[in-house]
Amino acid sequence: MVKAYYVHRHISRLLKGFTVDSQLPLALITESFVLVHLTGMAILVGAFIANMRAKTNFPFTLMVWGASIQLFTGTILVGLAYMGDDAPDNVKITVKTLLATGALIAAILGSKRQSHGDTKLQPFFHTAGGFAFINLIIAVLWNAELYA
Ligand code: HEM
Repeated sequence: MVKAYYVHRHISRLLKGFTVDSQLPLALITESFVLVHLTGMAILVGAFIANMRAKTNFPFTLMVWGASIQLFTGTILVGLAYMGDDAPDNVKITVKTLLATGALIAAILGSKRQSHGDTKLQPFFHTAGGFAFINLIIAVLWNAELYA
């Protein structure tokens, strides 16, 4: 208990020094969400690439998780960006949200149909994976700094 109290005091004192004019706590929180955002991207896009040639047993459950993580962490990242100095590009965010929502819906529909024993689920798989992959390209290449 005593030790925890001192550790806490020490950390608060450290943070107090930073909060005067530094964005360190906000930056750390933002980077932690970027970490989860990139993990969600890896789950979603990875599930697609690893099964691109599959004809059955599509990994829809993984894709539902991946797309949900992207929508959740992406929305938090937008909020955090507004809290800091750099407002995000609203057109880019809108396009990413629409594509991620499309990917989530396609993965949910595919998952439901697969559990009912339906076949011919490749269009759902390719829509979810394709939208996710386009979002990855947009995330990295739709960057004003690149073309300034
Ligand atoms: C399939 C869906 C998605 C994928 C694959 C994806 C991918 C990525 C990647 C790779 C980055 C890092 C880019 C870089 O730093 O160069 C990123 C950043 C970001 N994404 Fe997404 N994203 C997705 C969905 C979303 C959604 C739905 C939103 C908003 C609602 C969003 C908001 C953001 C924001 C604000 C950042 C910037 C974080 C920062 O560097 O401060 N993303 N995304």
